[in-house]
Amino acid sequence: MIGTDATGGVARKVLLDCDPGHDDAIAIMLAVADPSIDLIAVTTVAGNVTLEHTTSNALRVLDLIGRADIPVAAGRAGPRERELSTAAVMHGEGGLAGPLPIAPSRGPADCTALELIEQVLTEAVEPVTLVATGPLTNMADVVESLPHLHHMIRELVIMGGAVDLGNWTPAAEFNIWVDPHAADIVFRAGCVPGAERTGIPLTMIGLEVTHRAWLTDEHADELRGTGDVGQFVAELLDHFVGFHQDRFGWEGAPIHDAVTIAHLIDPTLVTAIPMNVQIETESPLCSGRTVADRWSVTGLPANALVGLDIDRNRFVTMLVQRLQHLGSESA
Ligand code: BDR
Ligand code: CA
Repeated sequence: MIGTDATGGVARKVLLDCDPGHDDAIAIMLAVADPSIDLIAVTTVAGNVTLEHTTSNALRVLDLIGRADIPVAAGRAGPRERELSTAAVMHGEGGLAGPLPIAPSRGPADCTALELIEQVLTEAVEPVTLVATGPLTNMADVVESLPHLHHMIRELVIMGGAVDLGNWTPAAEFNIWVDPHAADIVFRAGCVPGAERTGIPLTMIGLEVTHRAWLTDEHADELRGTGDVGQFVAELLDHFVGFHQDRFGWEGAPIHDAVTIAHLIDPTLVTAIPMNVQIETESPLCSGRTVADRWSVTGLPANALVGLDIDRNRFVTMLVQRLQHLGSESA
């Protein structure tokens, strides 16, 4: 049901900016599967793979789950000041390695991501939640080009960064590393959700959280056989879990991006505290690092709520159940 949540309350309106990507695809599905979320638009950015592929993948996923009504607009084809570096080694050249690629039924909207976001925020009656699960290139455009509409952004929840170790370099997480200049613009505009509104309320779901949010081969098997969606997710997981087993020796694969949506569905899942976060844009060794002031040593004001932990069992249960339900509806 769209528009109301399970208790009859009004569903939260969400626009998802993403770069599918296995975990982005699962984030889209979770957003559509949960009645407390009303996914009103999807925008795409280059990151895991090129913009052409991330856009096509977003359209394919929405086709698969019967939501070709949700508008999709393509955004930036690369970072602000750098060449695009992708994660094709992890996600495959097309971005969704595993299932057989099927052409989408439609093309993207005849406008840019920024134009679609402007339209959504202009027409919205209530402020809209933005979720970003790729490099922050489009979101930096929102910060710089739509200041008159910032009050219509309820909050911005991103998957990106790390308080401690990176995953793409020793210092940096992939999404921030791809476009640190964009991330710098976004974090400078941030403020703490629930506190005095001095900017855009910003939540950072980084690797401390998402490296605990993993699915395994057993979850793939639970989803296989629950319909077209379950089969598709199982085949995504066959590749994604296999990659993490081979590359890192881990039992499962972190479903990083789905945690942003899970956090909106149930804010008690992720433990988070306010911090000041600055982005390193220049250092060759540490470019893309989210310099998070965990112990308030700088005296700088907090500009984001930063996730530190997650109740993994509840996350996994929520995710698998919602995906199974989505599968049975479209089977
Ligand atoms: C992030 O990088 C991408 O590969 C994933 O989709 C996720 O958004 C994790 O570092
Ligand atoms: Ca992503």
